[in-house]
Amino acid sequence: MDLAHLIETARIASSRAYAPYSDFQVGAAILTEGGAVHAGCNVENASYGLSLCAERNAVAAMALAANPDDRKIRLVAIVSSDAAPCFPCGACRQVLHEFGCEEVVVLEASGAMGRYSLNSLLPHAFGPEHL
Ligand code: THU
Repeated sequence: MDLAHLIETARIASSRAYAPYSDFQVGAAILTEGGAVHAGCNVENASYGLSLCAERNAVAAMALAANPDDRKIRLVAIVSSDAAPCFPCGACRQVLHEFGCEEVVVLEASGAMGRYSLNSLLPHAFGPEHL
């Protein structure tokens, strides 16, 4: 699985977003350590606060489908048709950290791929290792 393919998977996921309130469509594609790919899109709700982010929906898809030994996230690619780059929100950074995510890949406005360590986006993270 190369990065361009993962970005494309995230782009397809963003086209399936249910975002009638924000009109901000997001897709995320997770690559696990085992090489599996799991995608998610944002799903909004008339009760706005119930809206679900693409990244956390991708994590839910991973948890459902993955072999328990393959829940380690190597990287996540995130695409929004409405904004570049689209970085994960704070809550999603925390959830990605939970599953060991090391890298976040976003599309820069130039079209280039931006690669960021999750540690740089969520320094001094609290995680399972602290409990
Ligand atoms: N959203 C995501 O799905 N992921 C992000 O990284 C940023 C924000 C969604 C939540 C909401 O449905 C819409 O984008 C606007 O905030």
